[in-house]
Amino acid sequence: MYCAVSVKNLSVLLNLQPDMDFKRYLITAALPYANGPVHIGHLAGCYLPADIYARYQRAQKRDVKFVCGSDEHGVPITIRAMKEGITPQDVVDKYNAIIADSFAQMGISFDIYSRTSSALHRETSQAFFKKLYDDGVFETRESEQYFDEEKQTFLADRYIVGTCPVCSNDNAYGDQCEKCGSSLSPEQLINPRSALSSGPLVKRTTTHWYFPLDKYEPFLKEWIVEGKKDQWKPNVYGQCKSWIDSGLQPRAMTRDSNWGVPVPVPGADGKVLYVWFDAPIGYISATRELTAQWSDYWCKEDTKLVHFIGKDNIVFHCIIFPSMLKAHGGYVLPDNVPANEFLNIEGQKVSTSRNWAVWVDEYVKDFPDQQDMLRYVLCANAPESKDNDFTWKDFQDRINNELVSVFGNFVNRAFVLMHKLCNGCVPALHTDVMDAADHALIADIKAAKQDVENCLESYKFRDGLYAVVDLARKANKYMQDKEPWIVAKQLAADPEKQKLIDNCLHLCLQLTANLAILVNPFLPFTAKKMCHMMKVVDRMLDWENAGSTDLLKVNYPLRAPELLFRKVEDAEVAAQVEKLHNNLKNAAKAMEQTTQQPEQAAAESAAPQYLPAKPEITIDDFAKIDLRVATILHAEKVEKADKLLKLELDLGYEKRTVLSGIAMHYKPEDIIGKQVTVVANLAPRKMRGIESHGMILMAQNMDGSLIFVAPPVAADNGGEVR
Ligand code: MF3
Ligand code: ZN
Repeated sequence: MYCAVSVKNLSVLLNLQPDMDFKRYLITAALPYANGPVHIGHLAGCYLPADIYARYQRAQKRDVKFVCGSDEHGVPITIRAMKEGITPQDVVDKYNAIIADSFAQMGISFDIYSRTSSALHRETSQAFFKKLYDDGVFETRESEQYFDEEKQTFLADRYIVGTCPVCSNDNAYGDQCEKCGSSLSPEQLINPRSALSSGPLVKRTTTHWYFPLDKYEPFLKEWIVEGKKDQWKPNVYGQCKSWIDSGLQPRAMTRDSNWGVPVPVPGADGKVLYVWFDAPIGYISATRELTAQWSDYWCKEDTKLVHFIGKDNIVFHCIIFPSMLKAHGGYVLPDNVPANEFLNIEGQKVSTSRNWAVWVDEYVKDFPDQQDMLRYVLCANAPESKDNDFTWKDFQDRINNELVSVFGNFVNRAFVLMHKLCNGCVPALHTDVMDAADHALIADIKAAKQDVENCLESYKFRDGLYAVVDLARKANKYMQDKEPWIVAKQLAADPEKQKLIDNCLHLCLQLTANLAILVNPFLPFTAKKMCHMMKVVDRMLDWENAGSTDLLKVNYPLRAPELLFRKVEDAEVAAQVEKLHNNLKNAAKAMEQTTQQPEQAAAESAAPQYLPAKPEITIDDFAKIDLRVATILHAEKVEKADKLLKLELDLGYEKRTVLSGIAMHYKPEDIIGKQVTVVANLAPRKMRGIESHGMILMAQNMDGSLIFVAPPVAADNGGEVR
C-alpha cells in the first residue's frame, strides 16, 4: 500500500522526448553458446546491463519484451560432443539447463529463454533463408574444402590437424597453432589429417550460398556511418566504421555439417545454415514463441529494438544481421547496440580452457542469497568503455564500503530510529518547523530520479548506480547532521522537539522508499526486501513514484528492519582467490593429459581481446618518430635467443642491423627481400652482444601472430612513412 498517486509532470515528459516515438521495446541479450556454463564476464558484459534496462523500462510501464535463449548450433558444440562421446543434442540439453538456471538465480528477468534447437526456430530460420533465396539474394560459389573419406564429411578448419609450419608442433589446428599462437589456414598445415578419423583427407569441391554483404555497403554507410555517429557508443561505432571502410565481402551463409538447421533449398543435402545466420534469427523465433503479437515487436516502426552484446559480437549484430533484415524486408533495425568490453579477472584475461573464470553457478552456491552483491559489483565496475578488472578484494571493498556502510547502513538506521523514537510508525511531516536541510534533501530526491533516469536512458549503468548510492550518501549525511538520537535527549525539557525528530525520520523513510524504486532495476532482490520492510506492494516501485516524498502514509506501521547486506569477510576473499588458482592448476594438468582441447580454443579464438587504448598524443609527439621504408637484405637466427632474428636492412641512404623478436613467427629464408617499415631514429640498443639500430613495425593479431607492416606495393627504400 502507498498513498501517493503522482502524475507525470510536463518536465518529466519532456525529458523522455527521445523515446516518446516508441510504443514498444524489444530488448535482446546475446544467445550464449550452450557448450559451457556462463561466467561473470558474460553477466557484466551483456546480461546484467540488459536486465537493468528491461527492469527500468518495465518500471516505466512501457511495453517490453526481453528475449534470449541458448545458441545451440556451430562447430564448438559438435566438437565438445565428439570429445565427450555424446550427441550434440546431449551437450546442448546439459548446458542449456545450467545456463538457464544461472540466469534465473541471478534475477535476469527474461520474458523468455528459448533455444535454437527448437522446431519453431528451425521453421523461422528456414523461412527467412527461403525468402532471401526466392528473392535471388544469394550467390552460389564453389570452393575446395577438405573432406574426410572415412567419415564421409567435410571438415571445418578446427577439425583438421597437422604440423605447424612455424614451430613444427605436430598437433596444430587448421585455424590456429596453440603452441606458437600463429593463426593458420588448413592449406598451411604440413601433412594435414582429419581430427575425426585416421582416414585419408582429400579435397572436394563444395557449393555454398553467399550473402553479398558488399552490396549492402551503401545502406550500412548511410544507416551507421552517417546515422549512428552520435547515438552509438564510440567503441561500437568505431568497430563498425572500420569494418565498412575496409570493404565488405560476400559471406558464406551455409556450411557442410550435420548439426544445425538444414538448408531448405534443392541441392543442399548435408548442408546447414551458418550458425551466425541462424542464431540472430533466434531472437525472432524466441519472440514468436513468447507471444502471438510477435510481429508487432519485429515489424512495426515504432518498436525500439536494442541488442545487448559483448564486443566480440559487434560485427554480427551491427553489420551482418541488419543487412540480412534489410534484404528480407519488413523488419525493424536495431535502434542501438550497446556492447560492452571485457571483464578481466584478477589482472588476467578470462580463459575458459585455462579455467581462469568466476563461474556464475559456483558463485550462487558459494554466496547463497547474495545475488545482489554480485550484481552491484559487476555494475559498479562494468566494462562499459574499456576492459576492466574484477578482483575479489575490490568485490569486498565495494560491498563493505559502499553497499553495507552507505546504503544498507542508512536504511537500517532509519528503521531502527523510527522504531525507537516514533513508535514504529511513519511520523508526520510538520511543515512549520522544516529547515533548509529538509528542503535540500527533498530536492536531492527529485534530482536523483532525473539523474538515474538520464543515465539509464543512455545506457550508462555504472553512473546510474552511482547516482543511487550517492543519494544514500547524502541521506546519511543529513541524518548525521540532524542527530535525532541527541534531540531525543532534549525531549523532557522541550517536548516540541519531537517535531524535529518526526521531520527527520519522515524524510528519511520517504527517501528509503525512493531508494527502493531507484535501486530496483539494479538490485531487484534488495528492492523486494525493502518493500517487505515498508509493507508496500510492488506497485510502489513504479518509476513514476520516484521523486515523491509522499510514498509512505503517516502513522503507517512498518516492520522491523532486516539487514539488507552482509559484510564480505577476509577469509571469503582468500578462499575465492585460492579457488581461482586451484582451477588454473587443475586445468593445466588436464591439458597436459589431453593435448586436444579444441572446443574452448575455438570459442576463445572467436573472442578477440583488444589492448586498452593509449593516452592521447599531439601531432608534434608523432612527428618526432622517423619512420622509413626498408628492405630486408639478410636475416639469420641469433644464437641462444629463441625469439630474435638479426636483420640487415637497406634504408636507401644507409644499411643497418636491427634485431627483431619475430623468430617464432618467421623463418629467416622466407623474409629476405621483404619490405618493412622501420623506426629509424630509435636510440641504438645492445642485445646478446649485437647492436640493434631501429625497430621494424609489426601488426599483432588477437591470437598473438604477427604480420609485417609494409607498403602494399614496392616503395623506395629510405622513403618516409607518415
Ligand atoms: N553465441 C554467440 C556468442 O556467445 C552469440 C550469439 S548472439 C546471436 O558469442 F545473435 F547470434 F544470437
Ligand atoms: Zn606453431
